[in-house]
Amino acid sequence: MAVLEIRDLHVSRDGKEILKGVNLRTGPGEVHAIMGPNGSGKSTLSYTLLAHPKYEVTSGEILLDGESILGLSADQRAKKGLFLGFQYPTEVSGVGYSHFLRTSYNSLSKALQGDDREVFITVREFQKYLKDNLSKVGLRDDFLARYLNEGFSGGEKKRSEVLQMAVLRPRISILDEPDSGLDVDAVQAVAKAISEVSAEDSTVVVITHYARILKFLNKLDHVHVFMDGRVLKSGDASLADELDRRGYDWVANPQ
Ligand SMILES: Nc1ncnc2c1ncn2[C@@H]1O[C@H](COP(=O)(O)OP(=O)(O)O)[C@@H](O)[C@H]1O
Ligand SMILES: [Mg+2]
Repeated sequence: MAVLEIRDLHVSRDGKEILKGVNLRTGPGEVHAIMGPNGSGKSTLSYTLLAHPKYEVTSGEILLDGESILGLSADQRAKKGLFLGFQYPTEVSGVGYSHFLRTSYNSLSKALQGDDREVFITVREFQKYLKDNLSKVGLRDDFLARYLNEGFSGGEKKRSEVLQMAVLRPRISILDEPDSGLDVDAVQAVAKAISEVSAEDSTVVVITHYARILKFLNKLDHVHVFMDGRVLKSGDASLADELDRRGYDWVANPQ
């Protein structure tokens, strides 16, 4: 259970202000969607939440369960249960995929003591857990023998990000365009995996352009329109359909 609160957040990169006063609050177990045009600052927000060093918070606050996390590094934030699925995942040669997942799972479990997490005693038990999750997102078992994201296709990289979320079971997941470049079957598999994780009181924030993936989610509590570095409008799931129909301009220029 976790509450994330972003208060009047201003963020610059290379001296240019990109986030211009973001306000957002997610409650325990909620599913949120952030929708907005290209270049509006959605990825900037996700990088900032996970302490990317190039993004400078010039004012505002990010609170997790009421405590500021601005002073924490990326790995400290991850150990508090924050997870980011990248829009453009990086290939990490030399880092074995299953080793990466097991090491991450174990250090997260240690950090989140008190949360009711499964303990895997043997490598074999953990492999079984991984394989169950692989099949959920539609990746074959032989991916486990590969290096992290190396040589994965665009779609496989996206599934891999969602697999990491499903395996690690973070308290709050931010998924940056998990649906981009995926065919409709893959979008449905990814949405199903997201729904399973969110069913366990875990909060999920899905950043996306299109309402398509949102229709496959078991639930969607809040939809936010993100434009020009801030949340301009929030609503319920019906707002996603309206954005699909009408685009974004009407939000910025209401008649
Ligand atoms: N290094 C940089 N210097 C200046 N502006 C940047 C830099 N990187 C990204 N931007 C700008 O920040 C804005 C937001 O980008 P981004 O967060 O990726 O948007 P989105 O994810 O919504 O498409 C864009 O206008 C982009 O050109
Ligand atoms: Mg982006």
